[in-house]
Amino acid sequence: MSQAVSSAPYLTDGIKALKTGVLPLAAAEMRALHGEDLRLLNLNECPYPPSPATLEAIMRAAQGINRYPETRSTKLAAAMSRRTGVPADRIVFGIGSDELLNLLSQAALGPGDTIVAPTPSFPRYRLAAVVMGAKPILVPIDREGACDVNKLLAAVQPSTRILWCCTPNNPSGGQLDDARVARLVAGTPDDLILGIDEAYSEFGRHAGGPDVLAHVARRKGPWVVFRTFSKAYALAGMRIGYALCGSDEIADALRKVRTTFNVTDMAQQAALAALADEAYLKFILDSTARERRRLIEGFVKLGYKPLPSVTNFVSVDLGTNAWPVIDALLLHGVAAREWRDPGYETYLRVTVGTAEDTDAVLTALPLALKTQKKAG
Ligand SMILES: Cc1ncc(COP(=O)(O)O)c(C=O)c1O
Repeated sequence: MSQAVSSAPYLTDGIKALKTGVLPLAAAEMRALHGEDLRLLNLNECPYPPSPATLEAIMRAAQGINRYPETRSTKLAAAMSRRTGVPADRIVFGIGSDELLNLLSQAALGPGDTIVAPTPSFPRYRLAAVVMGAKPILVPIDREGACDVNKLLAAVQPSTRILWCCTPNNPSGGQLDDARVARLVAGTPDDLILGIDEAYSEFGRHAGGPDVLAHVARRKGPWVVFRTFSKAYALAGMRIGYALCGSDEIADALRKVRTTFNVTDMAQQAALAALADEAYLKFILDSTARERRRLIEGFVKLGYKPLPSVTNFVSVDLGTNAWPVIDALLLHGVAAREWRDPGYETYLRVTVGTAEDTDAVLTALPLALKTQKKAG
């Protein structure tokens, strides 16, 4: 939905510059509209519920929610520090990594500043910059669907405060290799923040991708790596993500901007339990890799060229506008997603789900294409 630009004197120019976005419908809303058996492959969620141990931890924590949650997330930060090598007080938790991307933008950006960010990619880098009155400089991803490091570095201006990179990238699914991460880290000027969004890092590492954190830790200038429990840890609805910060100064800046009780105790306990349950993570990563392979092979058999994804989603250029195909897919019981970026109207993104989900997508897509041709 777009609307006339507001002239309200009480709103910031940044807010006025932003169009009203379309909020995604969540599982229950989608199922109420399109049927209980709808396969939810539109938001890159995990198709499996959290592990039994994680659900138990949530139930235990739920008994204390008449109290405000722990603000320092001490236990979770210590566990994450052991896992990542980043000092506990440089790890900041947020309401999903989405909130943390926003917090960094609030801490670093103002009118006259610029950010450099990939496109198509996660929209928050751009949206948060506009809200703060800063200008996004958007750099197209490469043909394989990974960020184009040389072009990102070349786009940096004296006014640039954050250089964003997303690897593996959403919605394309490609990731940077070791050499390109090294080039990105070495080539980013020390007077701006390198923000690396690794929401899909567990899938990327499982597919043989680089240790981005090891590279970025060598950097002299400021950096933040953003990760989440929403994807490989099956906790999207719990809303918990984390920022691994390169300095006390940056971690402190994020804490200054965040609200006091942002992450619930249920979310903190769920994350701790999920982190400890390595067997369950392995099950999810193995299952995702297997079904991703099947989905990619299936698309190829149908005559399409899917992008080479290492994530829990696969994108494909249908060669025809994806919107009517998405509507037709809904009629066949599958929720998928368009890319939304100008110039990419023919791209479809499908989350990797269970084996049954893969079968359903590969059956529904040819039917949906036929249906929408008839309607057209
Ligand atoms: C690249 C990327 N970054 C960040 C997020 C935000 O995830 P969350 O707020 O659930 O941690 C997403 C969610 O889809 C994503 O795809």
